[in-house]
Amino acid sequence: MRVLLLAPPGAGKGTQGVRIAEHYGIDHIATGDLLRDEVSRGTELGRRADDLMRRGELVPDELVVVMVLRRVRAAPDGWVLDGFPRNLAQAERAFEWGTTHEQTFDAVLFLDVPEDELVRRLLQRAAEQGRADDDEPTIRRRLTVYERDTAPLVAYYAGRGLVDHIDATGDVDDVTARVLAALEARAPRST
Ligand code: AP5
Repeated sequence: MRVLLLAPPGAGKGTQGVRIAEHYGIDHIATGDLLRDEVSRGTELGRRADDLMRRGELVPDELVVVMVLRRVRAAPDGWVLDGFPRNLAQAERAFEWGTTHEQTFDAVLFLDVPEDELVRRLLQRAAEQGRADDDEPTIRRRLTVYERDTAPLVAYYAGRGLVDHIDATGDVDDVTARVLAALEARAPRST
């Protein structure tokens, strides 16, 4: 199974990505987590990414693409991509790589959550966990960057017949049930 989660900040990409990976026994490749790990280890990539992430801006494509493709190559049984691609240039790099390596997405899931609920979730996480980019101005900036750079990818993948829209509001387990039903419809598992 190769699946892409496409959704704004706070929609539940990380929450559902972990569950999809567990269900299918595949890797959960979350670019935000990978970048935060680079930042906490103080690597060259982390130093370049830190300020951009704190401001809710995207990290340059050339840094992210290399990091993600390294992880994808190491996951031959499949993966769930969370937070990549994030703009058209990254989507085109992923498409070129997939074509060359005969790996395409089985599904692209768009997690649908109203904006006021996204902000509520992220402010709640700020209060509970204090993630560096969860203050309200930065949340607003992340949502603006999402609308400008990432939202157009829904049409990009819909044009390839790959997108399922999932109602990602309500109980987390109910969202997971909808997600897994959509994936099963796309790529039924043999028993
Ligand atoms: P990233 O870490 O990807 O952040 P994001 O897209 O802003 O997403 P979040 O992690 O905030 O939300 P999520 O959709 O994963 O939801 P989650 O499950 O966590 O990226 C961070 C930064 O890294 C970017 O701003 C950028 O700078 C950089 N970056 C990353 N990828 C990049 C790329 N490809 N190119 C360039 N730069 C890149 O849930 C959120 C909260 O809601 C949690 O507290 C959760 O418990 C809760 N929640 C989840 N589901 C529910 C539910 N059903 N009901 C109630 N609460 C829920």
